[in-house]
Amino acid sequence: MPQKIAPAAGRAAAKAAVQRCIDPQCGGSYGLQERIYTCPRCGGTLEIDCALDSLRASDPAALRDLWAARAASHDAIDKSGVWKYREMLPFAEPIPFVTLFEGNTPLYTAPRSAKYAGLDTLRLKHQGCNPTGSFKDTGMSAAITQAVVLGAKTAVCASTGNTSAALAAYAARAGLQAAVLLPRGQISAGKLAQSLDYAALVFEIDGNFDDCMRLIQELGEDPSIYVVNSINPFRIEGQKTVAFEMMEQCLWQVPAHVVVPGGNMGNSTALGKGFQELLDLGLINRLPKLSVIQAEGAAPVARLFATLDRQQAAGGENLPATMAPVANPRTLATAIKIGAPVSWKKALRAVLRSGGEVIAVSEQEIADAKAMIGRDGIGCEPGSATTVAGIKRLVAAGKIRSGENVVAVLTGHMLKDAEYVANYHRGTLAIDVDGKSQPIHGAFKNTPERVAASKAAILEAMERRRS
Ligand code: F0G
Repeated sequence: MPQKIAPAAGRAAAKAAVQRCIDPQCGGSYGLQERIYTCPRCGGTLEIDCALDSLRASDPAALRDLWAARAASHDAIDKSGVWKYREMLPFAEPIPFVTLFEGNTPLYTAPRSAKYAGLDTLRLKHQGCNPTGSFKDTGMSAAITQAVVLGAKTAVCASTGNTSAALAAYAARAGLQAAVLLPRGQISAGKLAQSLDYAALVFEIDGNFDDCMRLIQELGEDPSIYVVNSINPFRIEGQKTVAFEMMEQCLWQVPAHVVVPGGNMGNSTALGKGFQELLDLGLINRLPKLSVIQAEGAAPVARLFATLDRQQAAGGENLPATMAPVANPRTLATAIKIGAPVSWKKALRAVLRSGGEVIAVSEQEIADAKAMIGRDGIGCEPGSATTVAGIKRLVAAGKIRSGENVVAVLTGHMLKDAEYVANYHRGTLAIDVDGKSQPIHGAFKNTPERVAASKAAILEAMERRRS
């Protein structure tokens, strides 16, 4: 059941927060109790204005000490890596927060991945170490809490597998009904298993993720239903806390670059918002360059980005009105197999404000980067490995310098898609392109070896493979 806490001081900001249309021509603003996902006035994208002015007027720097002190607390609200930053979140006390102790994920050094990408050093922020194994848990903690605030009966999402796992788990914690729409046959067995075990209604749809997302937008019109895809601005609020946590772990030294995978573009939106709010409060003195990496076969935002007039778009003020979707997205990184990302505008604005890039990488690059991350002793799912592949490209293109301070965000746990990993190492990974199977060459493959059941044979094999 959701847990209640006693009111705490200094949360005037939450009371003044509103949902606001991101289109500056419209600027429509709406109360937090309104169950809306797009601007009722112009149909535009919404975000939450957390009204942080009241925090700015006090002593923002004191927040750092407050958050640091909470690391020693045993209260659930302080132990959660989302709710420990509650001053920055649009929830009034007492918050009926729903938690599985999300966040508090490691920031690893990764020397082999760094060398592979052409960097002196690289750090990996592993959001796959969340309770359901992906970065979705932070956002879902906030969205399901808002579902409780609104008294919603059923929470729904379309998903490539991770959002659904997170929704199923958090809805189960809160005692809410969950329903997930999944593209049939296109999500990994591990992710499907999670939604089933956490007792969600699992609807397998004949179509791709974008078809599921279209259906979700229609379902959202029904008053009994609460949509928790990342068009829901409360999801973004939970997810933005990774920026705060990362800065604490970086001892408030802003990295030059933060690099994330891009699918539906909620994560990049959230990181951009988190860093922007820290900048507005004076807790950091500049934004890290936020870059987003997509898979080549599912890269509508990278395509759009390549055609932008960078001068005109600088600062994110003159955003294009539309983005051409990819009709049949294709990638083995099924988490990011998305052709019409709903949060593209907010994400693009964040990238442009920070001076980052949006690029795409090939299936081969993703697969090899994933194996290299593995050699650092850190597993991740294929979608996450776009980051290291993308950094390698950006270094080669001179957009990232080898001595710069870079953090990549890994979004999912390796066991989310064990079949992909086993196929890569066995040399059987392949992608279907227009009916033809195209093999992915495992440059770093580690094929299991059949060995006779004898000590001598095992020692011989070890000796042979010692370098
Ligand atoms: N990495 C993983 C492991 C994901 O599951 C996703 C998205 C992304 C990256 C991309 O993040 O959408 O915020 O740009 N997965 C969604 C899902 C779409 O339904 O689980 P994004």
